[in-house]
Amino acid sequence: MDILRLYNDEPFIVDVNEFFMRNSFLFFNPHEKKSVEQSFAEMVKDSYYGVYHDGIMIAYGMLRGMDEGYEIPMLGIAVDGSYENKGVGTLLMKFLETDAKLNGYTKMRLRVHKNNFKAVGFYIRLNYFAFDYSGDCFWMEKDL
Ligand SMILES: CC(C)(COP(=O)(O)OP(=O)(O)OC[C@H]1O[C@@H](n2cnc3c(N)ncnc32)[C@H](O)[C@@H]1OP(=O)(O)O)[C@@H](O)C(=O)NCCC(=O)NCCS
Repeated sequence: MDILRLYNDEPFIVDVNEFFMRNSFLFFNPHEKKSVEQSFAEMVKDSYYGVYHDGIMIAYGMLRGMDEGYEIPMLGIAVDGSYENKGVGTLLMKFLETDAKLNGYTKMRLRVHKNNFKAVGFYIRLNYFAFDYSGDCFWMEKDL
């Protein structure tokens, strides 16, 4: 297994698009407003990662919002349905938190739909707490 930082290179863009074609996540659509291509082309402080196993991207994670001027990174994560409940999500969360810490951030933020029960429980287990609620979503935060 490898965790790779993704750049604006064609093979990475193909991997991410294939990941989303294999998985239609009900509550996770991070490229709804901005395509993968556009997000990768514009990224400066934001970062995107792929977890690879046997040459296939099995999870996708991101720390973003900094390029829009926010001071607290907004975390996003998804694991391929065939690889859930094996610890990949937890591992990627720890990776993203440590990566943010190394880059000087002291808090992490995320938004999760109230009906995404698995993800809500998962984040609570990882010590995220809800500090706000809007549009059917909890805003959660954690001190790093
Ligand atoms: C939420 C999500 C990221 C979790 O990823 P995951 O890889 O399944 O997470 P893990 O395997 O690390 O942990 C999931 C559960 O499996 C359990 N688990 C961890 N390692 C395990 C192992 N080796 N064997 C069995 N179970 C294990 C954990 O205890 C955990 O339980 P919890 O949900 O009660 O906390 C994943 O379900 C997902 O991608 N969902 C769809 C996209 C999405 O909703 N993203 C969040 C948007 S806000």
